[in-house]
Amino acid sequence: MRSFTPVHLSPAWLSLQSLAQPNFPSLRELLSDVPRNASMQLDACGIHMDYSYQRVNTQAMQALHALASERCVDAQMRAMFNGEHINATEKRSVLHVALRGSHLSHPPWGVAISKQVKTQLDKVCLFAEKMRAGACAGYTNLPITDVVNIGIGGSDLGPRMATQALQTVANSPVRVHFVSNVDAWSLQQTLHRLKPATTAFVVQSKSFTTQETITITASAKRWLSDGGCPADLMQRHLMAVTARPEVALSQGFTADHVFELWDWVGGRYSIWSAIGLPLAMAIGATAYRDLLQGAADMDAHVQTATPENNMPLLMALVGIWNRNFWGADSLHIAPYASCLGMLVPYLQQMDMESNGKSRYTDGSAVQVGTSPVLWGGLGIDGQHAYFQMIHQGTHLVATDFIGVKTETTDLPMAAEHHRVVLLNMKAQAQALAMGRSIEETQAMLAKDGMSEDEAAQLAPHRSYAGNRPSTTLWMQAVKPHSLGALMALYEHKVFYQAAIWGINAFDQWGVELGKTFAKQTQSLPLDGRGGF
Ligand code: F6P
Repeated sequence: MRSFTPVHLSPAWLSLQSLAQPNFPSLRELLSDVPRNASMQLDACGIHMDYSYQRVNTQAMQALHALASERCVDAQMRAMFNGEHINATEKRSVLHVALRGSHLSHPPWGVAISKQVKTQLDKVCLFAEKMRAGACAGYTNLPITDVVNIGIGGSDLGPRMATQALQTVANSPVRVHFVSNVDAWSLQQTLHRLKPATTAFVVQSKSFTTQETITITASAKRWLSDGGCPADLMQRHLMAVTARPEVALSQGFTADHVFELWDWVGGRYSIWSAIGLPLAMAIGATAYRDLLQGAADMDAHVQTATPENNMPLLMALVGIWNRNFWGADSLHIAPYASCLGMLVPYLQQMDMESNGKSRYTDGSAVQVGTSPVLWGGLGIDGQHAYFQMIHQGTHLVATDFIGVKTETTDLPMAAEHHRVVLLNMKAQAQALAMGRSIEETQAMLAKDGMSEDEAAQLAPHRSYAGNRPSTTLWMQAVKPHSLGALMALYEHKVFYQAAIWGINAFDQWGVELGKTFAKQTQSLPLDGRGGF
């Protein structure tokens, strides 16, 4: 067993602590160095990363790379690609990378797994195209026109986020809907617009035991039956995606409607598996394969790039610098494109269900902060809601801005809309970094004609500390390939941070206790009188 050195005792960690002191250059100072800013631009897989607004200099970056090297992140990445059981508490491999790499001739995970993956991927793509061609008939022999994804967490967020993001990519003859929440209102809001004869349900559940999903599925079956669907034709309206195909078959799903994923696919990493079926129905098989290719290209990038040019590694390192050495205990994600409205919830599960841990892999209690609180939303809306806190609050918040370079809508004033979006995104990054001192504010107010006394009184309230760090990720457009690359970028960032902290990113024991209590609470009155 390799001896485990807790990260907080590693030499590079200690040197980073000595660097992150009040006398460290401010962002305003750092940004005055034009060659520095130019050197902090990176392109990979169609994504451009500008990390010049991160409060780092050459010395800090060298110390961060020394940390990555000390933590053997390359060897840990190879172990994942090789299919080693790096998810030690569940004794499982972690091979979501295999799901998008079945085209590789010599895959590090072995051709047997690639064969399994390819079989399911082809089955998913064929079925999606059959559905899109109107060749899936319901109990009245009318073609299915609406598909409802029933699932939660990784069985919902990935397909839901990508379907929304890529809705303009392909005209979709099939409308895809998503129901994850078990409160009846959620299902009713979807069903009251649909007809049983032309509606199908994709039941997405790796475990096939998730209470919410089971409840919604039973309700959906009842809706079909009440709508006139005979019991012996119901299987036409039901598809299942699960790591327990035998359970689905035993519950009346037919084999051609059951799609398989495997235990070595984590729920929050499962969009690349058959869990992507509803997305493939929405955008078509070709676009779905492009999404996989974007992620595969990012996989190739992390395996071949030098550390200084490894985009996910750089994101991981500046994230650790902000989280562990400057006390930014939250990471704010701000997409400046409305079609990315579900990106934050998707990244929340990916990051916080992976790295929301408090035990090192050897079982000892961590002595460092792990997953930041990841939050955010569409940036333009956020500017008019919670950016106040980021600018003048008491939390130091790091931000990832996500911008889209090209405008693709055909509104007559689309270019003007886009100009306003992008100038706001850039202005926010600048304001957060540069701030405005009390002296500068006072002079500005006086220049605007305010009396000296009033300016002196108001200036502290209208000044900005600055030094709020950010990274800006630029996509050329929101297309399957670029979205796949962006998703894999964050997956690998999460991996690298876990590898450096020395935690297991791939189990999620934290979700079990609530489920246990939920089962025990079944017998208690739910009006609060029951006690425990
Ligand atoms: O409870 C957490 C979780 O297990 C997630 O990891 C997972 O994505 C979600 O619930 C749904 O699980 P399943 O796909 O097994 O229904």
